[in-house]
Amino acid sequence: AAGKLWGGRFTGGLDPIMVQYNESIYFDRVFYSQDIRGSIAYARANTKNNILTQHEFSEIERGFKQVLQEWQEGKFEIQPGVDEDIHTANERRLGEIIGKDVAGKLHTGRSRNDQVATDMRLWLRDQLELLEGYLVDFLKVIAARAEKEIEHVMPGYTHLQRAQPIRWSHWMLMYGAFFAADLQRLREVKARVNKCPLGCGALAGNPFNIDRDAIAEELGFDGLIMNSLAGVADRDFVVETMQWGSMLMMHLSRWAEDLIIYSSGEFSFLKLADAYSTGSSLMPQKKNPDSLELLRGKAGRAFGQMSGLMMSVKGIPSTYNKDLQESVEPLLDHVKTVGDSIQIATGVLSTLATQPDNMLKALTPDMLATDLADYLVRKGVPFRETHHISGQVVALAEKEGRPMDKLSFEQLQSVDERFEKDVLETFDYQKSVEMRSAKGGTSRSAVSEQIEAVKKALAGE
Ligand code: ARG
Repeated sequence: AAGKLWGGRFTGGLDPIMVQYNESIYFDRVFYSQDIRGSIAYARANTKNNILTQHEFSEIERGFKQVLQEWQEGKFEIQPGVDEDIHTANERRLGEIIGKDVAGKLHTGRSRNDQVATDMRLWLRDQLELLEGYLVDFLKVIAARAEKEIEHVMPGYTHLQRAQPIRWSHWMLMYGAFFAADLQRLREVKARVNKCPLGCGALAGNPFNIDRDAIAEELGFDGLIMNSLAGVADRDFVVETMQWGSMLMMHLSRWAEDLIIYSSGEFSFLKLADAYSTGSSLMPQKKNPDSLELLRGKAGRAFGQMSGLMMSVKGIPSTYNKDLQESVEPLLDHVKTVGDSIQIATGVLSTLATQPDNMLKALTPDMLATDLADYLVRKGVPFRETHHISGQVVALAEKEGRPMDKLSFEQLQSVDERFEKDVLETFDYQKSVEMRSAKGGTSRSAVSEQIEAVKKALAGE
């Protein structure tokens, strides 16, 4: 341990398993560029309070440019057992390039505690930007498809039982509403992630009057994490990201479940593209919706990472404790899982083929029983009564062994005399969906309005 950056007070070596247990370089190296960028901003701020001369700053900047290039070209050589994490690795290499005398001044007043929090926030900010782009693309596909296929009518379900006819676009826009809310939440999370903890030091703050605002501005942060204890203790931005991602994955999982059902042989409402399906190694006829099953399965994994970190954090005393290093791997995996999942979902939706004839065939006349009750409501009969009358018609149809719309006008009248000849027009799925024209309903105009709402959400309105 004597060779370590913090090795001054240590005499013995680390247990080899402890070395490996403690090191984070093999995953936190993804922060190499953020770590360098933060260090340069920190060094620049330290020229204003005379910790570094201009010349020393230029040397640090020059050295880091080379370190960055080595990472980018895959030439950075991690020294096993020495480079504990990305922060120590970058500083070690800087010292080799520009000499230890100048490199040794870089860390003045700084701690890896504020450093790692800064690296993670910088990295996550960019990742959230990417995720936002993926989500916007997905919503665009939903809106475009909803516009194009607005004529398709299919059964809508409650309890997975056929309930009432709806437009296929209406189904897509249900998820459009969920994902638009996810987009809105993402934008809010992003604003809280993008705050600067650098200059908090190990916990108590910076003793050299460093200009934290200048650092934040150089790094493109939108303000500071003010309280220095909070700056190093806080992993709420990681938890919140994973809570956001978990909710999104919950939506994707439900969406996937619907599509798995709709693509099954029994439903046959749609066919997944080959690009998102796989075959069976045994049964030649099989085409399985693996993409959708993975979406559903990965949601569980994403939730686990979120709840795992919350459990790690909940009992930690203030401020920094090494437990917090356990926030990194779940975050990396979570962000990758969510990003991949949104892109897969976008691919699935833009390539699946709908089978509108099968959607229509799945509609059954009893799904119009509510419309029949509504018919009598329009003649002034109270709904509680019409509900009962319509139920009797359903029972009669069952008894007669024929669909409700094949009952004669006389049979309908035998149930209730207030049925008039025009009642037969009720048995029309198109009419049924078009009746539901109030805001948010399944009529053409109401669905079109919902498409516009998704488009507005994309623009942040
Ligand atoms: N690799 C560490 C992390 O991710 C950096 C902070 C280490 N700080 C310390 N005082 N041991 O949390």
